[in-house]
Amino acid sequence: MCGIVAYKGKKNCYPILINGLKKLEYRGYDSAGIACISGKGNITISKRSGKVKQLEETLKKNNVHKKCTGTGIAHTRWATHGRPNQVNSHPHNDQSGSIVLVHNGIIENYDPIKKFLKSKNIKFKSETDTEVLVQLIGYFYNKGKLTFEQSVRAALQRVDGAYAIVVLNKNEPDKMIAARKGSPLVLGINEEEFFVGSDISPIINYTQQIIYLEESQMAIIGEKDYEIKSIEKDISLPKVVEKIDYKIDDYDKGKFKFFMHKEIHEQVDTISNTIIGRTKGHNVLLNGLMEYWSQIESASKIYITACGTSWHAGLIGKNLIERFSEVPVHVEYASEFRYNKILVDNDSVVIAISQSGETADTLAAIKKANDYGAITIGICNVPGSSISRETDCGVFTRCGHEVGVASTKAFTAQISILYLFALKLAYVKKQISKSAMKAHLDFASSVTKVKSILRKENYIKKIASKYKNASDFLYLGRGLNFPVALEGALKLKEISYIHAEGYPAAEMKHGPIALVDKNMPNVFIVPKDKTYDKIISNIEEIKSRKGKIIIITDSKEKVLKDLANDLIVVPKTNHYMFCILATIVLQLFAYYIAVGKKLNVDQPRNLAKSVTVE
Ligand code: G6P
Repeated sequence: MCGIVAYKGKKNCYPILINGLKKLEYRGYDSAGIACISGKGNITISKRSGKVKQLEETLKKNNVHKKCTGTGIAHTRWATHGRPNQVNSHPHNDQSGSIVLVHNGIIENYDPIKKFLKSKNIKFKSETDTEVLVQLIGYFYNKGKLTFEQSVRAALQRVDGAYAIVVLNKNEPDKMIAARKGSPLVLGINEEEFFVGSDISPIINYTQQIIYLEESQMAIIGEKDYEIKSIEKDISLPKVVEKIDYKIDDYDKGKFKFFMHKEIHEQVDTISNTIIGRTKGHNVLLNGLMEYWSQIESASKIYITACGTSWHAGLIGKNLIERFSEVPVHVEYASEFRYNKILVDNDSVVIAISQSGETADTLAAIKKANDYGAITIGICNVPGSSISRETDCGVFTRCGHEVGVASTKAFTAQISILYLFALKLAYVKKQISKSAMKAHLDFASSVTKVKSILRKENYIKKIASKYKNASDFLYLGRGLNFPVALEGALKLKEISYIHAEGYPAAEMKHGPIALVDKNMPNVFIVPKDKTYDKIISNIEEIKSRKGKIIIITDSKEKVLKDLANDLIVVPKTNHYMFCILATIVLQLFAYYIAVGKKLNVDQPRNLAKSVTVE
């Protein structure tokens, strides 16, 4: 799982590659590397463990950046096979040193191939599955019977799993070969200049002429021209060039120390950006869905599939859609959806939620839904991303670049879209009146209440500092706020490495309560709704076992003050907006705990912003 960028042209490839890697770090950041090839076929490989910034410093120190040529490949890694050290970093080369390659994906049958190659006296340096692939290409090539292109094809025909690769060969320095199966790969084309990327982000500021390589295709890139071919057969395929009218602005931390902090604050604007232009009076306008709307509104069931934070948004979406429109909704982890027996058919709608639009499991789930004939909807943040392209229709969350690995503004934007979708569906099904619609849509004005949460930041920071040394947390909520509890616990785990569990507040009696003692903080999300009295009882149950109580509520009732060790009151709004406000409190709470522990909030250990392997 990783990010790939490559360049072939007349410019020095270094700035293109290093800046590209920075844009791709969301796919992994435990090691990085670059290989350049000169016209005479000298290959220089530079790689190291650590982040792209550290690679950049090393390359500058060694003056590599000045010596780079017009052809190079680069990689930022999230370790799958083999520790994140220098040897296991990409690019990898074959034993002869002729072939060098970067890879995103997993070669599943690496073990038998490795055994075979070892029996042919090929020595391995790394613990990676990737080295098996490059050695296999080298094995075919060095036997002398196959060309470079034929060797790459022969090797790819023998590997199982997922891959996006770019390969160079020192004996054919004018050629670069890219190929994909399972993992995405994009080509950028200019006059006598070619780019390859895991997505368009490292490319789009140089060219808008883009080819999305299809499954099992390879690109053979020469000095002036290129061909698209099939991996299975040596046949040329049509070049489907798309003009992508999109630029990626530089996005920096501004006055903030961490992107996550900035992104939490941006929610004052991002939630309204998501909504603006999508409501008119009592109407919801979701233009991206209109082509398929008649099928969407008549579907008998809806599935929502996603991973991580986006899956939590899906749970909130289920609650909203079922509540307003009474259409049954199933929420499935994408990794389960893709392998379980799922009763999806051409009368179903499948909604994929993904910030990045690149999560491998969600992408595979949506492909399965397409195969079953369902109408597929993408709720993505990144235009041009794989999931936004694979779905029949969709709605972009429009919350801008999200860099912090722990998703914040994308989550609240996803909830906002799901809210609009649920209302629209309910309205066409005549389940909700005009005036109720209008009242709901006025919730957009509640966005100013986000500001009032941010004004409480120092107060939340103080509370966080009291609990930063706890080793376990419980997060408890009911109904719509059960997913909020899950999301609060996930935020804490991701960035502070403290164990936390989210539970429906009443369900905690069936197990988690056994964990409660005087050291255990319990975060309760308590809106003044129909479950209010029930949740007060749940708090009492924890309190009587000496657990510490942190309450997030919109109620000013004294009973809460009496029960809570710490109380955070958010402004009154409707039930749905309350979820958003409570989430922002929990984001800040997790953020300040992690900052208090002096951790790298934006790039926590072992995680990646987008998980591009299954
Ligand atoms: C990773 C990230 C999470 C994210 C999840 C799904 O685990 O660390 O923050 O929620 O992937 O990503 P997606 O881009 O599909 O929303």
